[in-house]
Amino acid sequence: MDLTVSDVDKNRIDKSRVDKQAIAGAFGKAAARYDAVAKLQQQTGEYLMKMVQSEDIGNRILDAGCGTGFFSKRWKQKGKRVIALDLAAGMLSHAKGLQAADYYLQGDIENLGLADNSVDVCFSNLAVQWCNELPRVLQEFHRVTRPGGLILFSTLAQGSLWELETAWKHIDDYRHINQFLPLQTIADACQPYRHQIRHQQYNQRYPQLLPLLNSLKGIGATHLHHGRQQGLMTRKRMSALSAAYPKNNGDYLLSYQIVFGVIYCDK
Ligand SMILES: C[S@@+](CC[C@H](N)C(=O)[O-])C[C@H]1O[C@@H](n2cnc3c(N)ncnc32)[C@H](O)[C@@H]1O
Repeated sequence: MDLTVSDVDKNRIDKSRVDKQAIAGAFGKAAARYDAVAKLQQQTGEYLMKMVQSEDIGNRILDAGCGTGFFSKRWKQKGKRVIALDLAAGMLSHAKGLQAADYYLQGDIENLGLADNSVDVCFSNLAVQWCNELPRVLQEFHRVTRPGGLILFSTLAQGSLWELETAWKHIDDYRHINQFLPLQTIADACQPYRHQIRHQQYNQRYPQLLPLLNSLKGIGATHLHHGRQQGLMTRKRMSALSAAYPKNNGDYLLSYQIVFGVIYCDK
């Protein structure tokens, strides 16, 4: 007998799984204003592109979790043929409007609808942290990348946004911040392959709390896991959060732990 979701006891739904429908919806809604606020993504993506020294890396690029296609376009400007892939239809149609890539594919990076060995480079900037299983994602990237090709990815690691998490702990017991993998777990996921990883901390500084929170909303970072519960942001909660927020010379700091990975596809 087939079970439907309504047959399942709600308490037994795995609350640690990411809610992909919610992620696609949140990013889709953020598409129009995304590039204006996604300064961190632009910095990490540029850094990731520079991790490849040689121009001789082949022509077919997959931009996995392409968002607005900001980096699809950067690769196109380098003369590459680019497949832009994203879970969010809203992001893809934005990328299409900008003619950011050559092909557009709505899909899930944990289950790519692409043939084995079909791209030369798989590029993925700050997208894999939204997935359930990093090893599964890397396996998929490895499967679709040709022998001798490259996988370039960046992701967030544990410790990212700790300032905001600390402040929320003073307000309620809900989880407000995505849970990011420890650096060692990311390194372990790369172990099956010849690889190189680098870790860097990026700091952002805001004069007020509201623009800080908006910067997270702007990147669609608010809809996360099944079971996430979060009270409404009333004026009272906002001022309590602001009072609890760790500050530096009166400024609100937000730190990101970024991991950059290069995987060499020796097959
Ligand atoms: C933080 S944005 C980064 C976008 C782009 N790579 C950039 O550098 O600007 C993350 C993107 O990953 C997409 N995404 C999240 N989970 C995904 C999945 N499982 N499969 C494909 N795309 C996904 C989101 O829809 C979003 O567009």
